[in-house]
Amino acid sequence: MNRAKRKIEHIQHALATFDHGAHGFDDITFVHQSLPDVRIRDIQLHTALGELSLSSPFFINAMTGGGGEKTLEINKGLAEAAKHCRIAMAVGSQTSALKDDKQRKTFEIVRKVNKDGIIFANVGSEATVDDAKRAVDMIEADGLQIHLNVVQELVMPEGDRDFTGALLRIEQIVQNVQVPVIVKEVGFGMSKETAVRLQEAGVKIVDVGGFGGTNFARIENKRRSNVMAYFNDWGISTAASIVEVVQSSPSLTVIGSGGVRTALDAAKAIALGAAAVGMAGPLLRTLVEQGLEALIAFMEELHHDFTFIMGALGTKTIAELQRAPLVIRGDTHHWLTERGFD
Ligand code: FNR
Repeated sequence: MNRAKRKIEHIQHALATFDHGAHGFDDITFVHQSLPDVRIRDIQLHTALGELSLSSPFFINAMTGGGGEKTLEINKGLAEAAKHCRIAMAVGSQTSALKDDKQRKTFEIVRKVNKDGIIFANVGSEATVDDAKRAVDMIEADGLQIHLNVVQELVMPEGDRDFTGALLRIEQIVQNVQVPVIVKEVGFGMSKETAVRLQEAGVKIVDVGGFGGTNFARIENKRRSNVMAYFNDWGISTAASIVEVVQSSPSLTVIGSGGVRTALDAAKAIALGAAAVGMAGPLLRTLVEQGLEALIAFMEELHHDFTFIMGALGTKTIAELQRAPLVIRGDTHHWLTERGFD
């Protein structure tokens, strides 16, 4: 099957497949504060990913790589929403456009629509330094995501089977690319062991891409009568993964993503130590099924609700929210205890 057709199928299945919902956020409870001492209009949502300043902790995470006119339209819509809401946006994997110039316009549209916005390029861990530089240049990117998607590759018949050398290539890219590098998972979560190795390789920002949201094992298995069902529940929940990475690797800036669906999920991700939150599947679904205005309304509502939650907690800044008291119960508590976190 050609790459463009596969990408369209991914989108269709992502839209059709319900989230798994095992992100772990339901195990997190904020501790209510009766004297918050804040004015809602004083609450500030800006945050930082390394040297990058973001006016909102929410961003549109990577979706839709190559795939012709349809993905171009989707990228255009996502870019318009990002511009309107002044949020950052990652493009989907640019691998196809690195191989075939005709695919470039699918990505270039994002910069054309949103000239001054924060945009992240996206490549896989098979990328060389040259690939990474070309992906950044293609869209004048402000940052570069490198995705790690071993399980997704394994469940695809046409996927990679050789995963050697990824850490070395990542290290070389970090050393040679001029923009901040974000290493991200795609829905299987990141462990403390992985985070420590990335930190040692010079990575400064990781996106945990945790389990509990869009699930590529299920999407791929659905396309082909569940041949690898053993990967359907594979992964580290987003809540547990954020704690693993934050607590094991203090020099990393952490992005919480994977199953973030509400302002409350996002606030919990940040209170666990994330600096920003990425959302993918639900934004695509809203854009494709309900249109651009609905996507913008959804993002505005998220910001509104997020601000109210910060108000209730008495936190005026993202840095204060990162320290908000919370209680961890259930499976997430059990996981973290087993993994040596208090
Ligand atoms: C993705 N995702 C993704 N990630 C990446 O780094 N490069 C890519 O090309 C893609 N492509 C892609 C296509 C589609 C249709 C979806 C829904 C997702 C993964 C995405 O960035 C994110 O990590 C996961 O989707 C988990 O987040 P959500 O969807 O649960 O918010």
